[in-house]
Amino acid sequence: MQTRRPLRIGTRARLLWRGLRYRELLPFASVNGWLTVDEAIALYESARSLERSDALAVEIGCWQGKSSICLAKGLAQRPDARLVCIDPFDASGDEASSDEYRDRADTLQGPLRSTFEDNLTTAGVRDRVEVRPGLSHEVAADFDEPIDLLFLDGDHAYESILRDYQDWAPKLRPGGLLLMHDVVHEVHDGPRRVVEEVIERESFWTERRYVDSMFLARKSD
Ligand SMILES: C[S@@+](CC[C@H](N)C(=O)[O-])C[C@H]1O[C@@H](n2cnc3c(N)ncnc32)[C@H](O)[C@@H]1O
Repeated sequence: MQTRRPLRIGTRARLLWRGLRYRELLPFASVNGWLTVDEAIALYESARSLERSDALAVEIGCWQGKSSICLAKGLAQRPDARLVCIDPFDASGDEASSDEYRDRADTLQGPLRSTFEDNLTTAGVRDRVEVRPGLSHEVAADFDEPIDLLFLDGDHAYESILRDYQDWAPKLRPGGLLLMHDVVHEVHDGPRRVVEEVIERESFWTERRYVDSMFLARKSD
């Protein structure tokens, strides 16, 4: 008797299934990373929803640019909108992640930073992105522009993500959007604890919701 093979639907098909308008996100599917299709769409739609023509989005933890592409594509409607990408590009990170980062980085042809830049160029968004290589905590010290969208996906250890939140969330404008990845995760409990123990107790976050493992909220006006 012939056994029926389960139908496997690839990332590109799943993206287009959500709507043909997401075809401009297709380059995200070719980039190594951990985002689901719905998380990619959530990043894109959040960036797209920013109203200022000079909107500023900041991403902490960029890896090879999978999420950066989604954010930058979402900003593309606004003539002067920018994405600032912060990452040391040395595959370092929390204890639970660094071996995997190192293993994946070892398979690349060149440095992680070059792969990141090449992926953005291929996706047609390199001009939208300003790269700040380094650790988020160090970059935060000299960063004094108000932010419209903040995406936290760097070091996932509790103390580190808490520090990212404390360093960066105050820089979000009223009405700005906060997104955090891996808040629902089997291995990492840092992002979840920051949401449950800190953010959920602060009254100025509205429109709180989850998309897969991602947490989203808006800072009230
Ligand atoms: C989970 S990956 C990011 C994935 C990326 N956002 C995506 O969706 O493709 C985490 C990244 O954060 C970087 N990272 C670790 N600690 C950091 C820190 N303190 N500041 C900025 N980036 C950090 C890691 O080296 C890694 O590149």
